[in-house]
Amino acid sequence: MWKDLDISFEKSDTLKPKPDPTNLGFGVHFTDHMFVMKWDKEQGWHDARILPYHSFSIDPAATVLHYGQAIFEGLKAYRKHDGQIYLFRPADNFTRMNDGAVRMSMPRFPADSALKALKALVYLDRSWVPEEEGSSLYLRPTMIGTDPYLGLKPADSYLFYIIMSPVAAYYAEGFSPTRIYVCKDYVRAVRGGVGAVKTGGNYGAAMLATVEAQRQGYIQVLWLDGCEHRYIEEVGTSNIFFHIGDTLITPALTGSILPGITRDSVLTLARSWDIEVEERPITIDEALAASRDGSLRECFATGTAAVISPVGELHYEDVSYPINDGQSGPLALRFYKELQAIQYGWADDPHNWRVAVG
Ligand code: COI
Repeated sequence: MWKDLDISFEKSDTLKPKPDPTNLGFGVHFTDHMFVMKWDKEQGWHDARILPYHSFSIDPAATVLHYGQAIFEGLKAYRKHDGQIYLFRPADNFTRMNDGAVRMSMPRFPADSALKALKALVYLDRSWVPEEEGSSLYLRPTMIGTDPYLGLKPADSYLFYIIMSPVAAYYAEGFSPTRIYVCKDYVRAVRGGVGAVKTGGNYGAAMLATVEAQRQGYIQVLWLDGCEHRYIEEVGTSNIFFHIGDTLITPALTGSILPGITRDSVLTLARSWDIEVEERPITIDEALAASRDGSLRECFATGTAAVISPVGELHYEDVSYPINDGQSGPLALRFYKELQAIQYGWADDPHNWRVAVG
């Protein structure tokens, strides 16, 4: 579809000091290099370059700054004990990003070239992929509209870039039960909107509810649907699963939920383990009734940043519902261990999810 892009390299001559690997946080430090490429109507995608990490100069009238033409992805590079580095399902991230580009009236990009650039970038900055278990190099492909024009229309020029950040677990507490606030006052997305797209506005719009929940001691918000405020959508920056009786249930992808790659991986693993799986609408009433009658065995969130995050408590309309006595459950742990083993290269990869770098 596209001719393969030539990628030029400019190596940084001043390498940054590495952060303390035992205190990485999330998204605080950035590696020595980044990838950029440009798009305009005349040339299409062009000028693909790996450059020293640098700040941009951007016109104050750029479309992204006013009308939010911005999409991004999150994926990770993992280091095995022997030094081999792997990416996890990177092509799926680029497919999702291209789907998002269409929804946001932005140009699709050549995913093969982007993957080639991503691999070259990770290889160049491979000394930044941390060794500590649970840590990884978080990769953030991003596309923004750069046109200086205040009329409302899709931009005529775009910048695609990839930056990389060595990270620890997203929640400082690691794999441990979280307290989640079920949000009725605000909604994240509605059907027909952009809830399925990783676009900045979804995250900006989520901040107020999240901060209010955090002020009350909850780590994240569980979003309900935008019309009836009954159907469960997703939790914070992740998808959500309920283990009720012998069935693993997750909300179906209706357009207002992010089609998570970790979500899909969990569904695939569950099916391969002969666990009954349902992707279907689930109301908050159903989940809480299952909590009351004891059939809700576990609840957990899934995402690239959060991996598998057990939910120990749901708080809804002034009542707290402990799940699995507030403890992490065995199924969440099994997914967490299996996914990590595949991602870090410690286990076989029967679904061909790993992509070796170098
Ligand atoms: C991810 O899981 O990659 C995300 O995008 C979460 C991010 C908003 C921290």
